[in-house]
Amino acid sequence: MLRAAPTVGPTLLAASLAAALPLPACAPPAEEPDAGLPDGPTVLWVEPADGATDVAINPIVRVGVSDHLDDRTVSGGAFKLYSGPLSYWMMAYYDPVARRVVAWPSSKLRENAEWVFEAQAGIEARDGGPLAAGRLTGFRTGAATGDDQPFAAAEYLGDIAPIFGSRCASCHGGAAPIAGLALDTGAGVVDTALGIPSDGDAEMDRVTPARPGQSFLIYKIIDDAPVSGDRMPRSFDEDAPAAPLSPDEQQIISDWIAGGAAIGP
Ligand code: HEC
Repeated sequence: MLRAAPTVGPTLLAASLAAALPLPACAPPAEEPDAGLPDGPTVLWVEPADGATDVAINPIVRVGVSDHLDDRTVSGGAFKLYSGPLSYWMMAYYDPVARRVVAWPSSKLRENAEWVFEAQAGIEARDGGPLAAGRLTGFRTGAATGDDQPFAAAEYLGDIAPIFGSRCASCHGGAAPIAGLALDTGAGVVDTALGIPSDGDAEMDRVTPARPGQSFLIYKIIDDAPVSGDRMPRSFDEDAPAAPLSPDEQQIISDWIAGGAAIGP
């Protein structure tokens, strides 16, 4: 299992595992003992990197994962950031667009101290596989406050409405919006998306403010058919499929939701 040692890249890890556990030449591939449980997601990268120094005292920790996490299992309490006996309350959410956890301490860290960031037991992938608990990274703070933010500031009118208007409103707008989802006006978004249960996933609202990982709309716009069926925007003309939203457009929608999905005045 490649769940441990999350800060080591997959290739390196596979190589070191192979070196550590040579299989007899003609042994059959090892069977998974806990056959009922899906494999857990693998940690692909972590920022700040293990061993980083001079890290800002308001750090944003980001953890890239191989599989979508169940955002309901991703909270500040699912992680621990500590320096000796001193540990800090964390905020955290899962971003399906970048496939990463974003976590940050709710107050500034002590300067010039060594910190360890750990995953606690209980974090799960959407398919139920567990993320291995344990150390994800360790770093040393400097004395400076950084200007990095957990998510980009996004405004409905300036950033989101142009995307919904040009790519979604032809179907999700007007007098009879498809699926009862109106993305052509701010009022439509409030009335038919924010906190409204989705048709496609019984456990998820269309948009859950502050939680892109619990927003079915996000899974509909990323290239992830097994989770969400047809990707949006779609087209009714088989010969002219709709282009997906650009990575930047997907990310700004996710960041807008992470920031609370405000519509503004
Ligand atoms: C050509 C028409 C068309 C366009 C354009 C379109 N959609 Fe859809 N959308 C549909 C249809 C049809 C469904 C219902 C079937 C399904 O869920 O796949 C749907 C369903 C959805 C759902 C699921 C609603 C639920 O409760 O399950 C979401 C979310 C969604 N669309 C978002 C978008 C977004 C965001 C865009 C623009 C980026 C977009 N759609 C563009 C036709 C369209």
